[in-house]
Amino acid sequence: MNETTSPQSGPPPSESLQSASVRDALITDQPSDAAEVARAVRLLHDGGLVVFPTETVYGLGADAGNAEAVARLYKVKKRPDTHPVIVHLSDVEQLHDWAAEVPEGALRLAERFWPGPLTLVLKRAVGVPDAVTGGQATVGLRIPSHPMALALLRQFREAGSENEAAAASTFNQYGSPPVASAPRLRGGIAAPSANRYGRISPTRAEHVRSDLGDDVDCILNGGACEVGIESTIVDYSSGHPVLLRPGGLSAARIAEVAGEELLLPGDNAPRAPGSHAAHYAPRARLKLLRRTDIIEYLAQHKGQRVAALALEVSVARLAAQYTVVMPAVAAGYARMLYANLRHLDASGADMILVELPPDTPAWAPVLDRLRRAAHDEPLAPREPGRWGQFKRKAAAGMDVEAEGVDGGNAVMQAAEGDGAESL
Ligand code: TXA
Ligand code: MG
Repeated sequence: MNETTSPQSGPPPSESLQSASVRDALITDQPSDAAEVARAVRLLHDGGLVVFPTETVYGLGADAGNAEAVARLYKVKKRPDTHPVIVHLSDVEQLHDWAAEVPEGALRLAERFWPGPLTLVLKRAVGVPDAVTGGQATVGLRIPSHPMALALLRQFREAGSENEAAAASTFNQYGSPPVASAPRLRGGIAAPSANRYGRISPTRAEHVRSDLGDDVDCILNGGACEVGIESTIVDYSSGHPVLLRPGGLSAARIAEVAGEELLLPGDNAPRAPGSHAAHYAPRARLKLLRRTDIIEYLAQHKGQRVAALALEVSVARLAAQYTVVMPAVAAGYARMLYANLRHLDASGADMILVELPPDTPAWAPVLDRLRRAAHDEPLAPREPGRWGQFKRKAAAGMDVEAEGVDGGNAVMQAAEGDGAESL
């Protein structure tokens, strides 16, 4: 047994809490307070990048009216600059500033579901910067419902008006004539999910810290995201609703309030990076398989580093070396999906087998993300991971809840467990 885990040789618990790393962890894991939100507002106005929690996933925010700040956002995200970003607002009335046309059905959706996990794509208004539309004729808009996001957005918008008034009075003081300039659209925060392009979206502040770290100016901590997958995107720019991305709000509820069926995108639909293959992807290979195929796979790959994400109902039959058990209810599954994919990826497994959930409308957004996450080749060199460590713990019969499994129950099999013996 090594020193740090030995009760005889390790420091007493009260002393170990004084260590710098633990103290930092305790401090940074606190939710952000009002002063931090106010600081984030100032940073945004100064062209900074601020990560903030939403009810879906964490967003990487920049002043949508500041082309330079948005350009830096694309650079940090490593996203091609032809892909549009969603502009986040705080009030439904702002729709008319940012969109040239708001069809009746779209307004009904905004009034009914905002703040909430719905993004509307509409014809862009004059003055919407190319930087956020990727040069397209439309703009994506959403009001998130997380209280910290709403506070940030409201204060950002209010501070913008004050700044402008202050700037105008300073100008007059020097007796200069008023200068005619195009009205700058204020009060919108451009924010893609706060992950590098193509990777798993973050649903906790610590995910962002480990992915983006010092590349951003501030990370607001608002705890674990309630919905856990991205917003549903509905394109109303043609006058009729087209479902571009299934997400946190069900397509059936949207159709009900819109008063018409949702269309599916045709060939000339706007570009949506989330629709590319190998999106939302872990570094390990991921296979989406039926329960029986997982059992067969495990039997054929004994001794290999294979992990599994299984549904509650079938876990007794799926004996991978390292298994995370997921709820059999779609909303609960979605809430913890990304955190658990990250967790399995960090285990050092070379292969993650995901049990195929039921193919029903309620599961459509989850299935969409899983299908995109499944890819054949690793996207980047694998880090050594902690597989060996997991195996040692398994041999000692330890529970791994403390390792950060999000809500699911981790089930460890014996280190040399061969995956198929419990069939
Ligand atoms: O839940 C969410 O939507 C999160 C949170 C942070 O709000 N944001 C998010 O952003 O998922 P992002 O950039 O990772 O995904 C936004 C998607 C992209 O697929 C983008 O192409 C699409 O929205 N999008 C944005 N503006 C668009 C537009 N004008 N036309 C078509 N698609 C658009
Ligand atoms: Mg994204």
